[in-house]
Amino acid sequence: MGEPASHLRLLLTATRRMQEQLESSKGPRHTLAGRIVANLFFEDSTRTRTSFSVAAKRLGAESVDLMGFASSVNKGETLVDTALNVEAMGVDALVMRAKQSGAAKLVRKAVKCPVINAGDGRHEHPTQGLLDTYTLAEAHGRLDDFDLRGLTVLIVGDVASSRVARSAIAAMGTLGAKVICVGPPGLAPAGLAPLGCKVTHELDSNLPGADAVMMLRMQFERHEGGGEGAEAKKSSVIASVREYREGFALTADRASRLRPGCVVMHPGPMNRGLEIDGSVADGLQSVVLRQVARGVAVRMAVLDWCLART
Ligand code: NCD
Repeated sequence: MGEPASHLRLLLTATRRMQEQLESSKGPRHTLAGRIVANLFFEDSTRTRTSFSVAAKRLGAESVDLMGFASSVNKGETLVDTALNVEAMGVDALVMRAKQSGAAKLVRKAVKCPVINAGDGRHEHPTQGLLDTYTLAEAHGRLDDFDLRGLTVLIVGDVASSRVARSAIAAMGTLGAKVICVGPPGLAPAGLAPLGCKVTHELDSNLPGADAVMMLRMQFERHEGGGEGAEAKKSSVIASVREYREGFALTADRASRLRPGCVVMHPGPMNRGLEIDGSVADGLQSVVLRQVARGVAVRMAVLDWCLART
């Protein structure tokens, strides 16, 4: 994300205020009444799109969805032309997810309204990075200053395919956390280190020192030779799912070696029984659903930030 710490702290503090409003009996103030937010999603999404819609509605705005599979992009229209057309209808902001890294930035240069990146290829997923950071700070009592120094976060699994990991490394690292990426060399290559993390291919020895363990989905669809649907679970990057689980899954046995204050995170969608056991995902140390809940407050803060003053 490349944002300075002060900028991140402002957004996270705004998130805390939104969360307080969500929990208050009066509910959030309708600062975006009369505004329209368009979700342009050219890739699958459950959580992120719904979360942006809920966030917009909580602030009194309307949200409209344009799904890639039903759009003219399939007839050859470029992403920029699609975005220009939606903007011409008078929407106030675009929330955009696309397969191409850099897509949101490209569209941002072409339109006048704010564009919020909801995930671009393997590159970035900034609001997910913010909600992960907020959840981490909340779990460790750092909501007053969002100073994450002294915390160690393991990001485990298919880091190479993960825009979530890139945004989490950027945000958590900027606020002082130590981030360690863990996975087999094909999924956690040493080349990730310049992002500001340590890289290791060994999970077990790192578990006892962790304050948070963020498990990632195996993104078979992004692997060379990997497939979708019935073809999923085929990959040129890992030898076998069984071998992968032996080394890197958060099993009930491994989870029993985490320290009591350590939280288990996952951005979703989860493959239960692959990267994480169902009992761990639902266990006492899991904050997976709290991440989803805080995602609404983060997106309210981001939408308000972009729109309240324009
Ligand atoms: C992820 C994404 O789409 O980047 N999910 C999310 O937004 N919460 C991760 C994934 O697809 O595995």
